[in-house]
Formats: sequence, structure tokens, C-alpha cells
Amino acid sequence: MLIFTTKNDLGAHLDNMRNEGKRIGLVTTMGALHQGHLSLMQHTQKLSDILVCSIFVNPTQFNNKEDLAKYPRPIEQDIHMLEQIGCDVLFLPEVEEMYSGSEEWNIDLDGLDTILEGAFRPGHFQGVTQIVKKLFDAVGPDIASFGQKDYQQFAVIKRMVEIFRLPVELKLCPTVRDSNGLAMSSRNVRLSDHGKTQALALSKALQYASDHIAEERASYSEIREEAISILKNAEGVDVEYFEICDRETLLPVGQPTAGVSLIVLVAAWVEGVRLIDNMLIPGGNSPKS
Ligand code: PAF
Repeated sequence: MLIFTTKNDLGAHLDNMRNEGKRIGLVTTMGALHQGHLSLMQHTQKLSDILVCSIFVNPTQFNNKEDLAKYPRPIEQDIHMLEQIGCDVLFLPEVEEMYSGSEEWNIDLDGLDTILEGAFRPGHFQGVTQIVKKLFDAVGPDIASFGQKDYQQFAVIKRMVEIFRLPVELKLCPTVRDSNGLAMSSRNVRLSDHGKTQALALSKALQYASDHIAEERASYSEIREEAISILKNAEGVDVEYFEICDRETLLPVGQPTAGVSLIVLVAAWVEGVRLIDNMLIPGGNSPKS
């Protein structure tokens, strides 16, 4: 695996690859790689000739300095995992390579950046789109894959790609869960075994809502309230939101509506770690990618 730390060296290598007719696939990450990332990469490898992975803990998407400082950075382990799966190129820039000082970034994300995650993490999705645009510019990928666990992130990146008319195909890949149902996340390393068990309340609440909506067993508000009760009654879980939303707009949906496909989304704290998860409600259209 080749490792580049500058945009110039990376760009020169990828230009050569493109001139040889190779299709470039990109998986952007902040490191602390887990099976969820590897599954994204394996999916991307099937659709491209050269797999590029970026590892960059992006400061502009953290609105909490402590969260940024605590973000896990096991770089040697990450490099080993990337080599094991046959990643071709790792882009591993320092902050100074990506940001030149004070920079303005504020794009119109159609309000997608101020709801759900955005309401609790102001500026987060502006920071995400800012860095993903820079990474797309540096790599010039034909295809870029993102995980469904960060569904709202995928929605804002899709919007950013539309705004700049970027010639990249976006893929949304299913969330990878451990055998108990816990969604894989880099943040899970900060949970004790007990915390991981407590965190199962998130997927249980989502599954409850998904089953009850799909089978039309109660009204959406009753289902939402019951899902929130599951979370509130779970020991050690502090719920931030639980919503039943339109998959396209991410706005709350109060009742079955023709042509609207649904997603349920949750955010909650366990052992001081903020966790998110979601499930697409069966029966809806597949998310457009
Ligand atoms: O999902 C992530 O790991 C990050 O938000 C991303 C897309 C790499 C941007 O920093």
C-alpha cells in the first residue's frame, strides 16, 4: 500500500492511474477502523480498480474540543488493517495540508444540516461537507462509499455533490452490526463491555419502531413514544432524539403518506459517548444513491 501525506504527491500518482484507465474508488474515514469501514472498502473494491482510503480527523466537524481530543487515533493498527484488505493507497494528511488558516465555508444544505444531528451539533455538517469537498478535490474519485449509520451525513454530502456538480458516484452501504445488533462505530472502543450491552437499547428501540410501523400496529406518535420509553427505561442510556422521518427530506412524518419512504433515527449517550443509529423501514423505496 502506498501512503501519501500531501495532495501533490497523491494527485500525481492518481493522475498516472487515471491515464492507465483505472477507476478510482474512495472511502473517507477518520481512522479507528472497524469492520464497518472494511465492509465499505470491500464494497468499493468491487466497483473500482484502485481503492483509496483517507484517514483524517477533521477538526472543523467537531463542535466539542474534548470530543476531538478524545477521538481514537490507532494509526499503526489502521495501516495494518488496510494492508490486510489490499487497500492500494492511503491518504494521511496533517491538518496543515488540508487547512491553510482561517477559511470561510457555508453552503446551502437545504436545512438538512440543522435538523436531527445538526440541531445537537451546530456546524457539524458544514465541517463534514468542507472536508469531503477537499478530499474529493484531492482524490478525484469515480466512486465514493459511505455507511448508512451516518445516513444524514450521506444526505448532506449528496446535496454538496449536487451543488458543485461533482462527477462522483455516491454509494450508501448497509450498517454493519455486531452479533447483538450494536452498530459498529469508532466510538464503541470508548465503551466498556457493560456500556456496549446498555447501548443495545438503541437498536432495540429502532427495531421496535421498524416492526410496528411496517405492520401498522399503532399510530406513529404512539410508536415514537414507546421507542423513547424503551430508551428512557434502559439503564445508563440518555436519549437525545428518536424520530420517524422521510428518507429524502429527513423531516418528521406523523402518519403514513403515499410515496414517502421512512427511516427511524436515534441519538443517545452511553458512558459519556454519543452514539447514533438508524433503520430504513421495510416497504419503502431504496434510498437513491
Ligand atoms: O464519517 C466520517 O468518518 C467523517 O465524517 C468523514 C466523512 C470522513 C469526514 O471527516
